[in-house]
Amino acid sequence: MTIGTIIFYIFVWILILFFLAILVILCIWMWTGLKAKVPFVPVPNSILPDIEKALDLKEGSVVYDLGCGDARVLSYLANRNKNKNIKFIGIENSWFPINLARLLTWWNKKRGKGEVSVIAQDFFKYDLSNATHIFVYLYPTVMDDLLSKFDKELSPKTKLVSVTFQFTQKKPIFEVDLERKSYQLAKKMYVYEF
Ligand SMILES: C[S@@+](CC[C@H](N)C(=O)[O-])C[C@H]1O[C@@H](n2cnc3c(N)ncnc32)[C@H](O)[C@@H]1O
Repeated sequence: MTIGTIIFYIFVWILILFFLAILVILCIWMWTGLKAKVPFVPVPNSILPDIEKALDLKEGSVVYDLGCGDARVLSYLANRNKNKNIKFIGIENSWFPINLARLLTWWNKKRGKGEVSVIAQDFFKYDLSNATHIFVYLYPTVMDDLLSKFDKELSPKTKLVSVTFQFTQKKPIFEVDLERKSYQLAKKMYVYEF
């Protein structure tokens, strides 16, 4: 066997292992998605500036992403508002996104970017009374299930930004049209105040 053939076989094996790894990741994603009431579907990166604008964070804010997925929203906000003494907290209860979030936030911190805390918990069981801002990208029924918790727990003036889904029993203070194409997800954003 020549050196060239050996290199060729090594290359083929690396390719096979790479595709197997992708297949395993896809299977875990689909499996956790099927188990969850709300699957892990990250918001498109192109709307992150709109989310930041709608939240309108201030010095000392405490920001939660309920069902933070891979924590891309909080990581973006934390990187852009690094020196404002703002706390960024993601709550997530699915195995795949939470580990992705831990990895990405660790990598961000290592590169000296903004810091994000990721908590592995069911957000229905988490006390949100210190929140000043909340971001959600969930599902209509979950929004309505959360409303009574928010009404009981949130401090006055807490701002909530929801992508795509709105409460049926509460009116937003304003809506943002995200000007996305008809086949794209995340077309609207609803901004609430409690
Ligand atoms: C549509 S994804 C949104 C991810 C992220 N917020 C984003 O916008 O990119 C919704 C996430 O909520 C999580 N989730 C659903 N119900 C939850 C619960 N009760 N507690 C914590 N996380 C939950 C799911 O696992 C999923 O990752």
